[in-house]
Amino acid sequence: MKTTLSVIKADIGSIGGHLRPSTALMEAVRAYLESKKGKLVVDYRLSNTGDDIAILFSHREGVGSSAIHELAWDAFVAGTAKAKSEGLYGAGQDLLKDSFSGNIKGLGPAVAEMEFEERENEPFIFFAADKTDPGAYNLPLYLAFTDPMHCSGLILSPKMSQGFRFVIMDVEYTEKDRYIELNAPEEIYDIAALLRDNERFVVSQIFSRDSGEQAVAASTTRLHNIAGKYIGKDDPVLLCRVQGSFPAAGEILSPYNIGHYVAGFMRGSHTGPLMPVKNGCGISFFDGPPIVTATAFCVQDGILTEPVDCFDHPYWDHVRGEVSRKATELRRQGFSGAAMLPYSELEYGGIVEKMKKLDGKFKT
Ligand code: 13P
Ligand code: 13P
Ligand code: MG
Ligand code: MG
Repeated sequence: MKTTLSVIKADIGSIGGHLRPSTALMEAVRAYLESKKGKLVVDYRLSNTGDDIAILFSHREGVGSSAIHELAWDAFVAGTAKAKSEGLYGAGQDLLKDSFSGNIKGLGPAVAEMEFEERENEPFIFFAADKTDPGAYNLPLYLAFTDPMHCSGLILSPKMSQGFRFVIMDVEYTEKDRYIELNAPEEIYDIAALLRDNERFVVSQIFSRDSGEQAVAASTTRLHNIAGKYIGKDDPVLLCRVQGSFPAAGEILSPYNIGHYVAGFMRGSHTGPLMPVKNGCGISFFDGPPIVTATAFCVQDGILTEPVDCFDHPYWDHVRGEVSRKATELRRQGFSGAAMLPYSELEYGGIVEKMKKLDGKFKT
């Protein structure tokens, strides 16, 4: 029997601005999920990354199941009621529509899902990021699945030598899914040419060319493309099966030691380094820096093991120090040049209005 993993995440309110959800909010969501425990969901885990909360479901309903999506939506609605009653900031922030309509995609929350026949043992890692957008995973995925400098399995393991097939989404195209499939290693220059542009091209899936099996499923929604205006950053989630014909857990984690610069940070309008943090970490400096959590599980017959917090290790303390240094360095130049996002990515619309007003004052 096939297992489906679905992770659905939303920001439905947080304490002190966009920092961290309250314990009561988390408990309200958990209580709702517990009250609905039955046939639909085999197992689930609830977690937060910065101000976002994610529900990881294991179930038998397949990808895009409206029953699973509706359950998540209703749990977020229950959590929003608690957030409102506590006066949390941005209560219901990511619930962009008034009611659920079949598929949670396009309604605000981020979704990553995949269905597979469980291997004899089925280890996977669940990533969640805050204060950034889906393109934040482009570079780590590119490096883990194409570059032997991070993934020694590409040269050591016969199961991996055929490489991987990337499915890359054009997230600027909103009418339908517009995507391209490219094979690594033959087409890595084409893959790199697209993934260079984190705001437009986003890895949505990766498949092993040896087994044909799916390794990666990522969320690709961009909130400002749904709402047409700024209502928060996308704060993407990602599922990645590991070992066997896929990279090892440590190979998938390896590129996160770069602390590469991503879009997001304060008001979703800046550039900042992506910091790998422990589970439950909140947000602080300059509404950031952008953070990512990684949680490993094994799943058997749909039952999830206890979680292992991948970035809760002394090695990553060192990385966090380095990433803090990178954040401070770029922040020193404030609004200037590379420190802020290009015009098209600036949030709130304030700059557009300002430019319009100033335009009329120019003389030739
Ligand atoms: P073990 O020999 O401990 O299973 O590790 C294998 C491996 O692939 C580590 O990257
Ligand atoms: P979130 O998208 O995480 O809610 O952050 C919004 C923001 O503007 C932070 O400064
Ligand atoms: Mg928020
Ligand atoms: Mg957030």
